[in-house]
Amino acid sequence: MADQATPLSIVILAAGKGSRMRSRLPKVLQPLGGQPLLQHVLEACDALGSDDVHVVYGHGGEAVQAAFADRNLTWALQADQLGTGHAVQQAMPGIDDGTTTLILYGDVPLVTSATLEKLAAAATAGPAVLTVMLDDPTGYGRITRDTVGNVTGIVEQKDASEQQRAIQEINTGLIAANAGQLKSWLGRLSNDNSQGEYYLTDIIAMAVADGLTVTAVQGDDAAEVEGINNRRQLATAERNLQIRRVNALLDAGVTVIDPARLDIRGEVTVGQDVLIDVGVILTGNINLGDGAQIGAYSILTNASVGAETVVKPHSVFEDCTVGSGCTIGPFARLRPGAALANEVHIGNFVEIKKTQIADGSKVNHLAYVGDAVIGSGVNVGAGVITCNYDGANKHQTVIEDGAFIGSDAQLVAPVTVGKNATVGAGATITKDVPADSLAVSRVRQKHIDGWQRPVKNSG
Ligand code: UD1
Ligand code: CA
Repeated sequence: MADQATPLSIVILAAGKGSRMRSRLPKVLQPLGGQPLLQHVLEACDALGSDDVHVVYGHGGEAVQAAFADRNLTWALQADQLGTGHAVQQAMPGIDDGTTTLILYGDVPLVTSATLEKLAAAATAGPAVLTVMLDDPTGYGRITRDTVGNVTGIVEQKDASEQQRAIQEINTGLIAANAGQLKSWLGRLSNDNSQGEYYLTDIIAMAVADGLTVTAVQGDDAAEVEGINNRRQLATAERNLQIRRVNALLDAGVTVIDPARLDIRGEVTVGQDVLIDVGVILTGNINLGDGAQIGAYSILTNASVGAETVVKPHSVFEDCTVGSGCTIGPFARLRPGAALANEVHIGNFVEIKKTQIADGSKVNHLAYVGDAVIGSGVNVGAGVITCNYDGANKHQTVIEDGAFIGSDAQLVAPVTVGKNATVGAGATITKDVPADSLAVSRVRQKHIDGWQRPVKNSG
């Protein structure tokens, strides 16, 4: 925390309609890196150690509240959007005068905890405002300074003179101030300006008039404080966020074949010497062990991949765990509840669902294995299907250690294939197969001599 002595309260403005997104979803719920915009802001706040977080909501407020029901937030309704100052005012009754209040925006998602700490810590002699220098400051509020460089106020684009519009230092919107003083300034705001709004920014000139010193904390990364008003800006922010996340993986020692072609939409933890090929999407909680390799165009969601396991291209994992030394894919699909031990081989066009597979077993080609428990050293042949669903209920298939399931067999669950048993190719198994036995269930092969194939009709 920036200042141990002064407690911190946080106000996040999220009442804007976001009409330029042209979406049914409230703006702050638009996903960025797999999470709602507002979630990013809240996570940046988490590191500040404040348990006093207020969100000002308006349009679509119920959906926003529902999305963050698991968090300890105080909600303040701003029924009509009368300006940023009016918005902050809605939250102030719930905030103690003695706190430093940090004002953030639900649509400025890439701001870092470090920047927020700096800003909060700077609000001692008076309010602190986060500014950046922009080559093209058009549209933003400009920071005005006196002849010796002290901040005197913020003037909005629409209210600025020609001269003021040439100022390149802009207001990011993020402001920190003592709550008691903030309340008194907000109570004195007028909407006598070109937009007829109550501007939060007007508190800066009020603070100066009260004889306080305003601190401009200059950010060095404009991308960090970029607001999102439309889909283009959302797409730009997505790229910026992905660069940040990929860089963290590179710094952790991961080989990323093309940093521009990896998308991380969750939390990734990695061992040493992990390799990620192009086109990979990692979502939710992902854990990649030492030396794991994720092949091109693989999509992993909430998955753990053990050390030295090789995932070949175009594999899709969801809610599953894979041990070490496994080979998976190409084109493998591990669905929820797939739990593979070590040295397991899963080949192309194989689907595994809610199934445990013990060490060294192989399911190499074109198979469906669902609701099953497979022992170690098992070989499941090409095209094998566990018939786990009878149209009403799911049933389990058990294949014990060392069993061999011939190609194209169907195992009609519930059924157990015993240890070291063999199931002949093409068998339909409806009864348990005893250990060490061979099960066959096909019509004996016969031959019809001189068989003539049909010939095509003429004309
Ligand atoms: C604001 C600042 C401007 C700054 C810019 C940075 C003011 C008057 N101006 O301008 O100096 O350069 O941000 O992006 O503060 N909101 C509400 N309720 C309202 C109005 C706004 O919740 O009544 C929220 C919006 O959802 C948005 C944020 O406040 O998240 C900023 O509002 P916006 O209208 O975009 O302000 P700007 O005109 O861009
Ligand atoms: Ca804006």
